[in-house]
Amino acid sequence: MLAALVLLGYLAGSIPFGVLVTRWARGVDVRAQGSGNIGATNVARVAGKKLGILVLALDALKGAIPVLLALHWMPESPRAHVAVGLAAFLGHCYPVWLKLHGGKGVATALGVLLVLTPLAALAGAGVYVLVLVATRVSSLGSLTAGVAAVATAVFTAPAIEYALLSGVLFAFMIWTHRSNIRRLWRRTERRL
Ligand code: G3P
Repeated sequence: MLAALVLLGYLAGSIPFGVLVTRWARGVDVRAQGSGNIGATNVARVAGKKLGILVLALDALKGAIPVLLALHWMPESPRAHVAVGLAAFLGHCYPVWLKLHGGKGVATALGVLLVLTPLAALAGAGVYVLVLVATRVSSLGSLTAGVAAVATAVFTAPAIEYALLSGVLFAFMIWTHRSNIRRLWRRTERRL
């Protein structure tokens, strides 16, 4: 059962909604424009705010739904919930459909954490919005949101495994944002 749920999580996470939505709605490849990222931020940049919000929701759902299924089928196993959530996140970052060249994982991590440790997810989302409004720099919002989510999860997560997962997701996000971090350091990061 666990192996099937992990596989399902990975395959769901692999669905490249950013690529699919921009191709269907605008006939463009989001990977060839803006930052080249397939996530909601670059979709908003390339195809407009509405499609960016749609991709944000879809990318979050592909993290949330497999974890909800894991909670349903294996309610007593936080480790299983964590494994499925991590698989969905890794599916987004390393999707089988795009030769493992995926996104940065922020929206999918949000979906996973909304199910497992909602206060941490909401704290992260709140900090993201505040930083984005103040600076118009989405990557800075994502990274500070990660800090807020981990700090909140440590105190509020219903299971220690979920708090650990938030830390692991944040560590991966630092890695997936490494080019953004270089640009932030040089003050050349793109604004929304
Ligand atoms: O979630 C991705 C965001 O933090 C940065 O996206 O397109 O500016 O690299 P982008």
